[in-house]
Amino acid sequence: MGLPVHTKILSADAPGFAAAAAILRDGDLVAFPTETVYGLGGDARNDMAVARIFEAKGRPHFNPLIVHVNSVDMARNFVEWTDEADILAQAFWPGPLTLVLPLKANSELSPLVTAELPTLAIRVPAHPVAQALLAAFDGPVAAPSANPSGRISPTTAEHVRSGLSGRIAAILDGGRCAVGLESTILGLADGPKLLRPGGLPAEAIEAALHGPVPVRGSDDPLSSPGQLASHYAPDAQVRLNARNKREGEVLLGFGPVEADLNLSPAGDLTEAAANLFRYLHQLDSEGRGTIAVSPVPDHGIGRAINDRLRRAAAPRD
Ligand code: TXA
Ligand code: MG
Repeated sequence: MGLPVHTKILSADAPGFAAAAAILRDGDLVAFPTETVYGLGGDARNDMAVARIFEAKGRPHFNPLIVHVNSVDMARNFVEWTDEADILAQAFWPGPLTLVLPLKANSELSPLVTAELPTLAIRVPAHPVAQALLAAFDGPVAAPSANPSGRISPTTAEHVRSGLSGRIAAILDGGRCAVGLESTILGLADGPKLLRPGGLPAEAIEAALHGPVPVRGSDDPLSSPGQLASHYAPDAQVRLNARNKREGEVLLGFGPVEADLNLSPAGDLTEAAANLFRYLHQLDSEGRGTIAVSPVPDHGIGRAINDRLRRAAAPRD
């Protein structure tokens, strides 16, 4: 770890975007909002910048990063584009979908970005602040979620500050992230495969491709190296599928239940996804004991909610 730095908070306006782009050009790191979660951005072509991302998060180097670009045209500089990629990009970019495609030879990206895999994860984010930053920088931005490795992803600038202050040059404050869960990751290098459920429901991808999309098998470690079982972990223990609250627990509800916090009293999965990480951060920071969570239906974005909840509840190392 290098010396602590003063982490500036930049506002989401023209001077803020210019300052953030200048920081990226200098090889330093800026956290910025996307529609999914806040990302920790660095110049994807600069080895020092990418190394700093791994260092600031305490992230293992075998876990590759997503590259953010402002257009399909820019994406095509870095990956071998396919017809399926084209259909999906037309339908869902900009938006919460990451495509994993073969890395182009001589792509000029730092080899640290892909952890030396032959594939690259890439997406065009929809958040206007992310788009303004990409336009001001005019290059590829490598960005994992802006949390210390293994912890809950940030959906506000304050979450980023509490996790990474003193380790990164700046945070571009664009308010709360609308989707609230990371992007869906779809492997396309070898037939479509769902590598991580996320903000775009798998059903929407299947409809666009007119066919089923198989889920990555758990015996398939290389296809998604970062999917460790314990992840998204709060300090508190987490108990799933809770029908009621036990002694020493707080209840994170879903639907019409009496709860300490409710992801969506109306039972709306999109609303629940948007609230999930913020409520986990909040209950965790209050330190009120085990977090019991109501059952959440396992379809649409509910699949991604349940994926994150299972990881939050998994045994820790
Ligand atoms: O919504 C998101 O995807 C956010 C925002 C900032 O864009 N980013 C994000 O990044 O969630 P991160 O690093 O927290 O998660 C990226 C996941 C990791 O599990 C990593 O292993 C996987 O993507 N990944 C990256 N490159 C890959 C590749 N070439 N093949 C398979 N999985 C890859
Ligand atoms: Mg992450």
